[in-house]
Amino acid sequence: MTGTGAPPFAVISGAQVRDALRGRERQITELVEETYRIHGVGDSVNPPSYFLRFPDRPSARIIALPASIGGKLRVDGLKWISSFPENVAAGIPRASAVLILNDHDTGYPFACLESSIISATRTAASAAVAADWLSRGRPRPARVGFFGTGLIARYIHMFLAGTGWLFDEIGVHDLSAEHAAGFRGYLEKAGSGRITVYEDAEQLIRSSDLVVFATVAGEPHVSDPSWFEHHPVVLHVSLRDLAPEILLASVNLVDDVEHCLKASTSPHLVEQLTGSRDFLAGTLDDVMAGRVTVPPDRTVVFSPFGLGVLDLAVGKYVYDEVTRAGELHVIDDFFHELSRYGR
Ligand SMILES: NC(=O)c1ccc[n+]([C@@H]2O[C@H](COP(=O)([O-])OP(=O)(O)OC[C@H]3O[C@@H](n4cnc5c(N)ncnc54)[C@H](O)[C@@H]3O)[C@@H](O)[C@H]2O)c1
Repeated sequence: MTGTGAPPFAVISGAQVRDALRGRERQITELVEETYRIHGVGDSVNPPSYFLRFPDRPSARIIALPASIGGKLRVDGLKWISSFPENVAAGIPRASAVLILNDHDTGYPFACLESSIISATRTAASAAVAADWLSRGRPRPARVGFFGTGLIARYIHMFLAGTGWLFDEIGVHDLSAEHAAGFRGYLEKAGSGRITVYEDAEQLIRSSDLVVFATVAGEPHVSDPSWFEHHPVVLHVSLRDLAPEILLASVNLVDDVEHCLKASTSPHLVEQLTGSRDFLAGTLDDVMAGRVTVPPDRTVVFSPFGLGVLDLAVGKYVYDEVTRAGELHVIDDFFHELSRYGR
């Protein structure tokens, strides 16, 4: 924040966010990894997300994720993200979001950023970090399967490819043949490995060593542990696809225990069923820090609730990049009533 006078307030568009993040998959995965470590040592504040739901629109929600991150990032803020699944049929993305960044010293908001791209980016970067750490000590997966093929699946593929993953085979499964075909078209343009669209969910899972769940399922729909007998690494990004039987037969990791055992996620269902958290091996940070080792001969499931600190870290990165490029659009006089007793 600059000296005296009205603190500057900037608005950063989706186009600016995209330009700041394009081709930066490696930097962003490193940033997300660093943020998990900062969070892991407790140099953050990340209260529970607040879910605003509507009796007249049961499938919709808007989530508030307030957070504060320390380390060298030192920024506070709030992500405010809507999920309206019916949007997809109307031709616009399910999720839309803004991120507010607040100054560490004064609390003043200093930027509002378009945040659906930031959110998808931090989610995909987190998935890429998890894929890397959780597959160490076993043959690196060469067959990936995408279960659910929307925007998040596309970003996760982009981040895996952008951080050096090469796949011989890419499996695709979606309830909507149109969505599966659209994703296939994206993969073909991206120049990936051999692509197979599976109508049968079981075949997709049995054919994948790395499985990415990115559906919008509200309740578990995969419940047969034998589908996982080849012990894949599972990125359970959509959080509610797997029945307790699957988790109970797997090594389970989350991003944050308190966050993830809420809101009827699959891990939350397991806790309710068993009355214990013993089924959890730990967090991704535990794995990165060497406190937890992932056995190579077990299915490993990572269920990331999605932490506001990641949005802050990526949002601040974007803010700094746009500032460096001299392209910050400051709204003049945004804060106006600045004299205590008037002028
Ligand atoms: N954990 C996190 O940090 C995090 C962050 C962002 C998004 N997400 C989650 O990722 C998911 C995907 O988001 P998106 O923006 O890509 O959504 P989207 O609506 O663009 O795509 C979801 C796709 O899943 C398909 N689908 C729905 N139910 C299915 C089922 N039972 N089997 C197979 N396919 C199914 C839909 O047809 C659609 O193509 C959402 O659940 C979202 O909440 C998680």
